[in-house]
Amino acid sequence: MRLSLRFVIPLLLVLAGIAYAVAPLVDRLTLRWFIRDLDGRSLLLANTIQEPMLEHLAAGRKSDIEAFFNRISEDERLYAVAYCASPTANILASRSLPASINCADLGRWNLPSEHLLESPRGGPLHVAVRPLLNPTTDRSEAVSGQLVLVHDMSFISRRSEETKRYLVYAFMALAGAVSLVTVIVAQLSWRGWIAGMQALLRGEGLLRRPELGQSPELPGFKPIARDLQRLISELAAENRARDESQISWTATTLRTILHSELRGEEVIVVSNREPYIHQHRGARIDLVRPASGLVTALEPIMRACSGTWIAHGSGTADRDVVDKNDRIAVPPDHPDYQLRRIWLTAEEEAGYYYGFANEGLWPLCHIAHVRPIFRSSDWTQYVAVNRRFAKAVVSEARNKTPIVLVQDYHFALLPKMIRDELPDATIISFWHIPWPNPESFAICPWGQELLAGMLGSSIMGFHTQFHCNNFVDTVDRSLEARVERDSFNVSFGGKLTAVRRYPISIAWPPDPALLKKSASDCHASIRQGNDLPAEHRLGIGVDRLDYTKGILERFRAIERLLELNPDWIGRFTFIQIAAPSRSGIEEYQHHEAQVRTLATRINARFYRHGPPPILLRVAQHTAVEVYEYFRAADLCFVSSLHDGMNLVAKEFVAARDDECGVLILSKFTGAARELPEALIVNPYDADQCAAALHLALGMSAIEQRDRMRLMRGLVSEFNVFRWAGRMLLDAASKRRRSRLTDKIDASA
Ligand code: G6P
Repeated sequence: MRLSLRFVIPLLLVLAGIAYAVAPLVDRLTLRWFIRDLDGRSLLLANTIQEPMLEHLAAGRKSDIEAFFNRISEDERLYAVAYCASPTANILASRSLPASINCADLGRWNLPSEHLLESPRGGPLHVAVRPLLNPTTDRSEAVSGQLVLVHDMSFISRRSEETKRYLVYAFMALAGAVSLVTVIVAQLSWRGWIAGMQALLRGEGLLRRPELGQSPELPGFKPIARDLQRLISELAAENRARDESQISWTATTLRTILHSELRGEEVIVVSNREPYIHQHRGARIDLVRPASGLVTALEPIMRACSGTWIAHGSGTADRDVVDKNDRIAVPPDHPDYQLRRIWLTAEEEAGYYYGFANEGLWPLCHIAHVRPIFRSSDWTQYVAVNRRFAKAVVSEARNKTPIVLVQDYHFALLPKMIRDELPDATIISFWHIPWPNPESFAICPWGQELLAGMLGSSIMGFHTQFHCNNFVDTVDRSLEARVERDSFNVSFGGKLTAVRRYPISIAWPPDPALLKKSASDCHASIRQGNDLPAEHRLGIGVDRLDYTKGILERFRAIERLLELNPDWIGRFTFIQIAAPSRSGIEEYQHHEAQVRTLATRINARFYRHGPPPILLRVAQHTAVEVYEYFRAADLCFVSSLHDGMNLVAKEFVAARDDECGVLILSKFTGAARELPEALIVNPYDADQCAAALHLALGMSAIEQRDRMRLMRGLVSEFNVFRWAGRMLLDAASKRRRSRLTDKIDASA
């Protein structure tokens, strides 16, 4: 035993010395990483706020700009934001900007060594200066001043403390393990121990690899080596998880957040459309994936988080495949989560879905010049169906504090109904379509009830800041609510709702099955399958057959292209994939007829023995088929008249791992704010769209690559895991805050 101690004590001293020496090295290394990450984050932020900044500058109200800066610098890490129009101008800044930063000597922050500044509250600040780029009419960009982004780096000292603590724990554990094993080994075999030490001193190492011809490992050291390996891999895994949650957003990041921040709570999603529909086809049951941006976005989230998705069971065979609780595990080939189906009568579906949601709210929120229709009988069904879904949420919840993600305009009343039953639930609602201005919204006879229902949410999310602003303005105008403009919080009926912007996206990287066929094979097979010559130029459009998608405007642009540039006649074809949608509604039937008639007229007008200018494919297509078209096309044209986000644009970008192809994108989509490298058009301006088509068809491969690379970079970074992750992180901090308030209340 004395001998063991003689070994153990020096060992402990040596390990403590190593820990002491390694800590500063780790500090320096992590500081370098964080500075690099903050440089990247500043660039992303500058790109993101560029557009709202330009709008504010155009409006010319300094107070709005400063309020905007104050709002965005509420972010935990973002310490201050400022803007200089020129070196002689007065700086416009958020309240927190350190006094030592001014317009006259912004240049000093461009030097890499000068990035750091001491905060007045102690701790370092990271300063980055980025030019504010203003797109000019000739599609080049002019510099309109400088944006200053100051990040709070005090979290680094916290991290550093944490790292040191972990190192000490690691070495303590290691020392403990070594001591234990030493004592045992010493007891068992004094000789073996000596031999082991001798071997170690001879440099034979702890782990031997017999398969490489090394002598077998010494049994006394085996457990030490294993402990060491386990400790190292645990530390690495922990660091990886922490870094990923800040940097790369993946399904794993989401799972980590759910477990670390939300204690693995069950997530319940509610949407009208279900992710898997079972349909009878004769004696067979087919599985159909619906054409819905909402489903495209939520499916990867549910796969990552498990939990339960409650939705309307709309398939003809849906009832035949569920269990006695109306549940089915999905995806059917590899179940990750539960789908709970709710059955609606034909009358309920007609009033709630076709009537109130799709003839009323859909046109109300989309400015596409179709009149909303509001009937009191539809409203009655809408209320009743919302109540049925609320009951289902309550019955699915395993405890009184579930996290419920309510989706879209079908369920405006649901948040309040859930809140009444489960006051401590965290309810995050997301409105997938635009929110109109208060004047337009005032058309709805039940506007106040809808708003009160939505304000049952803990967080109310929209795709763009513009829609958040419209919502807050509408609440301010219609309800006796307290609206805090600085923090974008609404207090109504004693409850607080945060109104937040979360731009939705797609899973990244895309499912490998979608990219299996090479782009050149897709190029050949799609042309062959559509009777087009091998080198024929191809455009693609993929939409639900909906009047908001601007399909008629798209066809008129193609007609104009052929009028202005007849060279393209017979050399260019546009394939429009149109998934039938809401065909029980008269407006949609009328729209389909108009689309078919226009395609026929244009094809007849430009018929020259060769392939027609437009191929209209009205049918449901699988994701694999759609990606094949995306990968085969020279351009993709998204011409929505108004769209919350539009995920087709992002899917086209995701499909093009060959970095070819041009995206033409309506400026009335949320996506246009994130993808400025697309050719941004006004779909109502046929001449401008025709010019964009012509430009796209003549664009060099290098320019296509440069644009595509930037867009792919953005979609990969701002993917759907970030969308959901940000919401869940915000929900977690809300829950922490309300637990704290409860504790304070209880102790008062
Ligand atoms: C939009 C809505 C979704 C809806 C989708 C398809 O994207 O925001 O909620 O699921 O259209 O429409 P449908 O009526 O077929 O579900």
